[in-house]
Amino acid sequence: MAPVAIDERPAPPKYHEPVQGTVYHGDGREEALLKHLQSLPELQNNPGTQPVLDAIHEFGKGENRYLMSVGDTKGTGIEKLINEKKPKVSGQARVGADIAGLITSGLMKLVLELGSYVGYSAICFARHLPKLHPDSIYPANWTGDVNEDKAGYISLEKSEVYAATARGALELAGLGDVVKIVTGSSTPSLKNLRKTLNLPRPLKFDMVFIDHLKPLYTNDLKVMEEEGLVAPGTIIVADNVVKPGNPPYLSYVRATPAQKRAMLDRPPLKTQPATTPNPADANDWETAFCDGPLEETLWTPDESDGVTGRGDPDLVYSSEMIGGWDPYTGERDACEVSVCLRKESN
Ligand SMILES: C[S@@+](CC[C@H](N)C(=O)[O-])C[C@H]1O[C@@H](n2cnc3c(N)ncnc32)[C@H](O)[C@@H]1O
Repeated sequence: MAPVAIDERPAPPKYHEPVQGTVYHGDGREEALLKHLQSLPELQNNPGTQPVLDAIHEFGKGENRYLMSVGDTKGTGIEKLINEKKPKVSGQARVGADIAGLITSGLMKLVLELGSYVGYSAICFARHLPKLHPDSIYPANWTGDVNEDKAGYISLEKSEVYAATARGALELAGLGDVVKIVTGSSTPSLKNLRKTLNLPRPLKFDMVFIDHLKPLYTNDLKVMEEEGLVAPGTIIVADNVVKPGNPPYLSYVRATPAQKRAMLDRPPLKTQPATTPNPADANDWETAFCDGPLEETLWTPDESDGVTGRGDPDLVYSSEMIGGWDPYTGERDACEVSVCLRKESN
């Protein structure tokens, strides 16, 4: 694999110091954000989506108001990668714009997001769905028939408070009927998603955006594989794979079926292993963790609420890291874009 492309564009302005280890959410700022959005005269009476996104981003620049949204400065050429079904690094771009581009292309009709927070990414990515698929917008009820023509964006969020903020922001953006937020812990939510939403089987999501609790990424992907929510043709975009980093997840999506099968023969870990660090050198991020799943993938975090995914080791991914920045701290970060290519028969 080629080393990660060095970004030639300037990093975005730095509005906040790095937030790791400090209080950066859940201190009332999310409720304050909703009140603020609802008070802005320019956001009343169907302002469209961009003014709402801009207002959220502006709010996040204030003191103690950092927001853990994806922002619009991460990633590179994702639309192109996916359209070609052949991921390769091709320079830096804006992840928000690119994922929106995938949806605009009409390829992405059903999108699943893990981690709504205040709704920034949901607004950004779902806003094209009503124009492209006016007759098939979720959450019109499914009958459970796989031939139904549906489009929509389902977002899972653990916090009722954040979900309320996201719903309020989505209402202002005119997307209240397009994005369905399901509250609760992601792992049991995924296990029960078909039942909860009466989704037909087989039915996969066209895109999954993973952006919630970092130690849950791998286990939740395995649960989605088992449930058939992720299947050949699904594109998985996982945020924050550099900052704070997620070596176990990268090692899983970059592993071959044979490597994953070998790992499954080993018993699950009973205690949490030490966390594997990211490589110190940015040039190694793109090529690291290709030797098979790390031991940490045998550990199920407590936050998965007792739901352990074994995954489907036969699924083959083509996986690529897409660089960018945190929207407020200017720190380097990246998304991992993994295209599920096929199921290998052994
Ligand atoms: C980084 S934020 C999501 C940002 C959002 N995707 C955006 O870009 O605008 C992570 C979110 O995941 C949520 N979260 C954490 N653990 C979760 C879990 N187990 N299940 C569902 N959501 C969870 C947090 O409450 C938080 O709102």
